[in-house]
Amino acid sequence: MTKVEIQEKILKLRLELSEHNHSYYVLDSPVISDYDFDLLLRELQELENANPEFADPNSPSKRVGGEITKNFENVAHKYPMLSLSNTYSKEELEDFIKRISKMVPEEMEFVCELKYDGAAIGISYKNGAFERALTRGDGSKGDDISANVKTISSIPLKLKGDSFPDEFEIRGEIFMLLEGFKKLNESRIEEGLETFANPRNTASGTLKMQDSSAVASRSLDSFLYYVFSENEIADNHYDSILKVKDWGFKIPPPEKRYIQKAKNIDEIFDFINYWDENRHKLPFEIDGIVIKVNDYIQQQRLGSTAKSPRWAISYQFKAEEVSTQLEKVSYQVGRTGAITPVANLDPVLLAGTTVKRASLHNADQIEKLDLRVGDFVFVEKGGEIIPKVTGVDLSKRNPDFPIFQYAETCPECETPLIRKEGEAKHYCPNTKTCPPQVSGLIQHFISRKAMDIEGLGGETVELLVNAGLIKDYSDLYRLTKEELLPLDRMAEKSAQNIIDGIEKSKEIPFQRVLFGLGIRYVGETVAKKLALHFETMERLLEASLEELLTVDEIGQRIAESFTEFFSVEENKQLINRLIDAGLQMEVLKQEGVSSALEGLKIVISGSFEKYSRTELKDLIEKHGGKNTGSVSAKTDLIVAGEGMGPSKRKKAEDLGVKIIDENQFAEMIA
Ligand code: IVH
Repeated sequence: MTKVEIQEKILKLRLELSEHNHSYYVLDSPVISDYDFDLLLRELQELENANPEFADPNSPSKRVGGEITKNFENVAHKYPMLSLSNTYSKEELEDFIKRISKMVPEEMEFVCELKYDGAAIGISYKNGAFERALTRGDGSKGDDISANVKTISSIPLKLKGDSFPDEFEIRGEIFMLLEGFKKLNESRIEEGLETFANPRNTASGTLKMQDSSAVASRSLDSFLYYVFSENEIADNHYDSILKVKDWGFKIPPPEKRYIQKAKNIDEIFDFINYWDENRHKLPFEIDGIVIKVNDYIQQQRLGSTAKSPRWAISYQFKAEEVSTQLEKVSYQVGRTGAITPVANLDPVLLAGTTVKRASLHNADQIEKLDLRVGDFVFVEKGGEIIPKVTGVDLSKRNPDFPIFQYAETCPECETPLIRKEGEAKHYCPNTKTCPPQVSGLIQHFISRKAMDIEGLGGETVELLVNAGLIKDYSDLYRLTKEELLPLDRMAEKSAQNIIDGIEKSKEIPFQRVLFGLGIRYVGETVAKKLALHFETMERLLEASLEELLTVDEIGQRIAESFTEFFSVEENKQLINRLIDAGLQMEVLKQEGVSSALEGLKIVISGSFEKYSRTELKDLIEKHGGKNTGSVSAKTDLIVAGEGMGPSKRKKAEDLGVKIIDENQFAEMIA
């Protein structure tokens, strides 16, 4: 292909991919399969990488992230980012309407919208292209989080059509979908990490992450709710919102009643009542309704105070809270021994479900609430997976209730609990015989991402533990079919499947064995890093804290947890039993594979004679390196070919990043 043909191809692919993005994320009606989309995207990425002179910061390839922002630049808002005044009752809302009716005596039309519970964003567009995205900050200045916002697929990077003003700003809310929030927390539980409290904080925290590819992996979405432009788009808010839909923005769909015009207070209340009842069916959280005066001239006449516009107001839903009696506090013991206190309540109806239990998080939380058994407590349902106790109704407190005493021993095995300095939770240190820890750990060991033992499930593990047939995961490798058969509902075939599955797991690669051990803070990625770095269990066992700390992304907490695990004699014996059973205890060396590039973040730029770009990328991965998209201070190495862009070269030189050619690369991996 000639350069002109390449450029044309790149532009065509970008257009095609933007269209598909729009169909999928904004219109919710995909035209091609995910697989075909990936093929097109990969084709574009390869062409862009080989032809850096055609780079475009708004290419659909930016959706996957990769850019690292060290410090978010603080930038002044062109239009101050105001907040809304709140009302909490229908009377207050009526007062608002009366108040503004005095200032605008003629008839007013309103627009009712959902109040999305996320983080506010202001995105500016110039000549139809995404320019910058700012957080609200203090309202006059916000942080530039463009790289992160660009990974949110429902936000257009190039606008459709040609009817948009040259410059304008659009405001909206970025939030996390409930399904994605749930999945994120589930995977954190699996990795032994603390879960996130609610989708709102997770969304705003995610937007401030430094690595945009991490942002791309979280399910953020957006709705846009206001447009600022020097040249008016329409003469009212509602029509402007509908108009921006044509340019590719995701707007609240009127057909789902996410946005609706209202002529009077009765119609506003209709909307409020509908959503008060139905909000839990939404795939995201809302915390109220926003009511806006529709007409722009009327909006102008009403104006704004320093803090909020006078033409809009929010109606906050009452936090769904009920009061009920605390019958007792029980304790849950997690796989890692972490203790979670749980309030056992007199059953009560809350947000459509009967609630019997609510989370109390930890001992500090109970102390802060000054909770006592027998108290009437307020229970609230937020974004959390289970409801939480938010306070005590002191008016109903019986002064004879004794001060609450937190458990001193494990409810399952009676071992005295410990609480490490700086940690919020108590732990049961008895990893060896505390039943939920024993079966939890074995269940983790056999899970899909670890040893993936087919045929064996959580229930069978519990049966095996309860029958005394296994005490730890190494015992699995001594199990016989005859021992399995007497178990409840165990047929010949399923017993054989289990035995076969256990046998097959001996082929599982070392990094997954390491993950399966269930060492606190050693998740899938950490296990992989450690395995590839040390290569064998033998060397890992010998590694000192200092050596562990030299591995990329291994911090003090992980390193300490690791050395602590291996300092225990019983754990050493456990590992020996796994070695004897024949599990993989070293990284399998494949042909042509080394760790020559271990941990190096490498950018390839330009085109090469010896290798295609895909080959080069594969080689980098095979030799332990990591392919990254753009040059930053974190880049370790650039493999430069024909046609590396001058700006990239300059950036690399300014940052002092080493640049090598393909021959030097070949030597490195030889
Ligand atoms: S209008 C000048 N509409 O609520 C216009 N805000 O303090 C002011 N919010 O953090 C905002 N949904 O980000 C508007 N449909 C909606 C909204 C909404 C959520 C957020 C906004 C801000 C807070 C108001």
